[in-house]
Amino acid sequence: MKISVIGTGYVGLVTGTCLAETGNEVICVDIDEQKVQRMRKGEVPIYEPHLDILFERNIKAGRLKFSTSLSEGLDHGEIIFLALPTPENGDGAADLSYVLGVAEEIGNLITDYKVIVDKSTVPVGTADKVKKVIAESAKCEFDVVSNPEFLREGFAVDDFLKPERIIIGSSSEKATELMKKLYKPFVRSGNPIIVMDERSAELTKYAANSFLAAKITFMNEIANYCEKVGADVDQVRKGMGTDSRIGKRFLFPGIGYGGSCFPKDVKALQKAGREKGYDFKMLDAIIKVNKNQKTILLPKIREYFNNDLKGKTFALWGLSFKPETDDIREAPSLAIIDHLLIEGAKINAYDPEAMTNVERLLGNKINFGSSMYDVLQDADALIICTEWSIFRTPDFRRIKDRLINNVIFDGRNVYDLQDVEKEGISYFSIGRKDIKL
Ligand code: UDX
Repeated sequence: MKISVIGTGYVGLVTGTCLAETGNEVICVDIDEQKVQRMRKGEVPIYEPHLDILFERNIKAGRLKFSTSLSEGLDHGEIIFLALPTPENGDGAADLSYVLGVAEEIGNLITDYKVIVDKSTVPVGTADKVKKVIAESAKCEFDVVSNPEFLREGFAVDDFLKPERIIIGSSSEKATELMKKLYKPFVRSGNPIIVMDERSAELTKYAANSFLAAKITFMNEIANYCEKVGADVDQVRKGMGTDSRIGKRFLFPGIGYGGSCFPKDVKALQKAGREKGYDFKMLDAIIKVNKNQKTILLPKIREYFNNDLKGKTFALWGLSFKPETDDIREAPSLAIIDHLLIEGAKINAYDPEAMTNVERLLGNKINFGSSMYDVLQDADALIICTEWSIFRTPDFRRIKDRLINNVIFDGRNVYDLQDVEKEGISYFSIGRKDIKL
């Protein structure tokens, strides 16, 4: 099939590349001339595991092309994916100006039947708005479909190729059939394509992300309470997670969720609810608890250093909001860094992928090291913010040799308590007993 994808961010690029992988002819359109030039040469503009291999293969095969011309994209595709940014505007709602701006141009430019697909996370009612805007100037038939993505950064390619489900919000039989044909190769393993109306599809995305954010946040509160009563959240998590109604996943406590989706989507749903006179009390609590959770390690750090962090140096492992990505949007590391700097501390940070992004944001306010051990030299303590695999089995001897105090503050519960205790290191984590040596 002939497919066009408008917007080459995380979602657009993964969608375009994976659709080319199953033999479709794909054109990805972006207004950024330089980015398009780089992609034409085979350069992947984001860090996403496995994307580079698929990218190269499909460009070589001539199935994946790039353009800055929206009209070229609209001529080419029978299905047009809108994978445009929907950033949070000043008051927490999703800003639809990119989506509606492109919709207006689509209306002016299309000359034969197209299925326009909303792939971005958009508030309920957006498909109707897009339909209305296109209809104002369109001279041919078209349908608008809502097809939210459920891609996790770091696993986006896998999630796209082997989705647990595909949601299609459509009220047109013709468009639904085309979408089913497009996605057929991805659901051969038996996972369902669920067809519903556009509004329900739009809400499914917000409901799923907010529910996952709630699950994490609930566990974070249980972890905080574990510390008060001497329980171990690892044990509680295992005990709870084996109940299949609860499930094992997304129960890992830590220093809060971040990223481009959960924070934005929870706030957008809360805001959308208010606009309709519905007050999502749970969402208010999730936002509040998560904000607090990001700095939950700080009281422990302050207490260890007798409330005087001035002039102390902290080695910090992990800057990205989670492993396997260079994304630092809403990353808990940034909240911790902010507070430590205000209190006069210095920071030596290391992250396998995200240092360039943090340097762009913070300049020389913090130092960056060339390796995870490098940043430990003469630091007063180690703080872990992201559970990259490389941090999981460190050489504890090298940690002890370099740190001034043998102490680790771990925001992701990376180590077994017994292992660290055996190494003679003081260890403070989330929802588990503190090891004070
Ligand atoms: C999420 C959704 O999973 C995906 O379906 C959606 O389309 C986009 O948003 P992503 O933001 O890439 O994906 O990351 P995810 O792996 O879901 O993690 C989100 C955040 O929750 C991270 O900050 C992570 O550290 C945190 N998290 C996750 C926990 O704190 N505990 C957990 O048990 C799981």
